[in-house]
Amino acid sequence: MQLSFKKANRVSKNPSLDLELSVQELSAQTHPGQKKYWAMYSSWFERVVTDPNWMLVPIDDHLFHRGDGVFEALKWTAGRVYLIDQHLARLRQSAARISLDVRWADHEVKVLIEKCLNAGRVQHSTETEAMIRIFVSRGPGNFSVNPYDSVGSQLYIIVTSFQALTEEKRKVGVSLGASALMSKSLDWAPYKTCNYLPNVMLKKEAVDCGVDFMVGFDAKGFMTESATENVVIVSQRNELLKPKKGFILQGTTMNRVFTLAQHFVQQGILSRIHEEDISIDMLRGAKEVMVLGTTLDVLAVTTFDGQKVGSGIPGPITNKLQGILLADQLKY
Ligand SMILES: Cc1ncc(COP(=O)(O)O)c(C=O)c1O
Repeated sequence: MQLSFKKANRVSKNPSLDLELSVQELSAQTHPGQKKYWAMYSSWFERVVTDPNWMLVPIDDHLFHRGDGVFEALKWTAGRVYLIDQHLARLRQSAARISLDVRWADHEVKVLIEKCLNAGRVQHSTETEAMIRIFVSRGPGNFSVNPYDSVGSQLYIIVTSFQALTEEKRKVGVSLGASALMSKSLDWAPYKTCNYLPNVMLKKEAVDCGVDFMVGFDAKGFMTESATENVVIVSQRNELLKPKKGFILQGTTMNRVFTLAQHFVQQGILSRIHEEDISIDMLRGAKEVMVLGTTLDVLAVTTFDGQKVGSGIPGPITNKLQGILLADQLKY
């Protein structure tokens, strides 16, 4: 698939630095996607803004020109930010990986998220769910690669409308393909840094191949993950299996589901819950396969590489796990 620009390059009619005119022009420049942007906090401006045109990041922030930063994506649902502590803990682990100073305490980040939600809700009062993205950047300084050139890390929080998955996908499940691309290395896969180009390429591969998701494999041929989702299986022996730590991001959804699923082991619905190397043959022979993540919760994979998974419809364990996760979101 060819990537194409939707809009011709626009050159300002007023290239001189007339601030007032620039502000007018900027305010007039909109695109439909912006309707979903609720609010943004920027530590650089020390403000929460709701006008999408002012949701800006300095171009000399090393996040922009080097991908030097970390991020998290969280869901606001049932009046709460689901699994917020787990997300903030992972944000700090990712930041520690690149020696990035998160200058804000968790309680301060939570207050700022609440401020964004409150500001955004004025215009989006009928919406009951939202996505929150937190970015901690190396900060502005110059255009070098040197992280020590920054004046200090910055925090950007952006709240947008939640894009629910179509009911159809929930009912019939999704397709998964085997990626031909090399999975992210052990050095980077467990961290949510702003260098997501391998993930971008994995998603592009899925779109180009006409499947919903692609799953990667490591050098030994063991299953890793999808672009922004974890993949887990139910074996023929009714084991719920996830890949070993290392070549995957430890998804907050996957880990929560695995904790909640203990209940099904006690009930004898699952024989055990385990973390192990999953080969492509195990994936092919699985009773059920599912993708998990903050935006889609638990979703049944009903075809892998063009072949039916199990009987080709969402399996009972996937449905149960989806149910238990939704119940957890309501009471959390
Ligand atoms: C690479 C990758 N794997 C898995 C996930 C799922 O993680 P979570 O359940 O915390 O959303 C994500 C989330 O964005 C991701 O980026």
